[in-house]
Amino acid sequence: MNKERVAFITGGGGYLGGETAITLAKEGVAVGVCDIKKENVEKIVEKIISLGGRAKAYVADVSDSKEITEAIEQCAKDFGRLDIMIHSAGGSTRIAGPNAKWVHLVEQEDYVIDKVLKVNLYGAFWASRAAARIMIEQGEGGKIINLASTVGVNGMCCSTDYGAAKGGIMSLTKGLAKELGPHNIQVVCVAPGCVARPADTFLSDKYKYGTNFLNQMCTATDISDLIAFLVSEKNRFITGQTYIIDGGRTLALKGTDGE
Ligand SMILES: NC(=O)c1ccc[n+]([C@@H]2O[C@H](COP(=O)([O-])OP(=O)(O)OC[C@H]3O[C@@H](n4cnc5c(N)ncnc54)[C@H](O)[C@@H]3O)[C@@H](O)[C@H]2O)c1
Repeated sequence: MNKERVAFITGGGGYLGGETAITLAKEGVAVGVCDIKKENVEKIVEKIISLGGRAKAYVADVSDSKEITEAIEQCAKDFGRLDIMIHSAGGSTRIAGPNAKWVHLVEQEDYVIDKVLKVNLYGAFWASRAAARIMIEQGEGGKIINLASTVGVNGMCCSTDYGAAKGGIMSLTKGLAKELGPHNIQVVCVAPGCVARPADTFLSDKYKYGTNFLNQMCTATDISDLIAFLVSEKNRFITGQTYIIDGGRTLALKGTDGE
């Protein structure tokens, strides 16, 4: 009988993290679902349990090294091991709170830049390091996935902090893959384009699907299916890479190819 694999997901109460937790649970992975928002994480855990899967809720602030490290260690203790860590907690200006403004860097306030870098980039450092320490000690390899964004490739006005954080995650992925390769721990980055959440009613149709070459909306399932493959035992040999999943959005600015 194959052993049960265990995953820990930050931002697991969110749109992409929640869908990924459910997708993995359906494939028989036990999931530690972590978020700063207790009610969201509990909803995902309830859903997984109602589907017959195994899951447990963890509440932690991923920007706090001690808190997130303890949550990951607790998850490994609760389930007896750790095979997969996915850092999906993140977001741009909005994660700095309702008063944070989408403005150019020259007008941006310290606390917004600080928050965006700490949750997205520092969070990736703390969660990856905590998971890697456990996986190294376990001695059976593992998979670490960090969520970036195409904004980390192209940059974006009024989101220089977010772009820098996501670009940093792509770079972290490369160096960490080299360090952890000898332990058979694979480190991969997933960089979505626009995946409109139900709450994103302010986004125009052009932004949601008019700027990709497939002219379709990317769904949370598109992202979770890619992650499910990357953390599966079928992925034996991919490490250090960033997977851009954006319908071709980053190939060029649509409309600039003379068509
Ligand atoms: N949705 C998109 O279009 C899109 C595109 C590119 C990249 N991404 C990235 O994918 C990831 C998931 O995005 P999403 O669309 O699911 O967003 P989401 O807002 O639905 O989920 C993010 C989750 O992170 C949690 N979170 C925020 N701050 C936290 C903290 N300090 N500690 C712990 N948890 C915290 C939130 O509570 C939320 O549940 C993010 O890293 C985001 O930057 C999303």
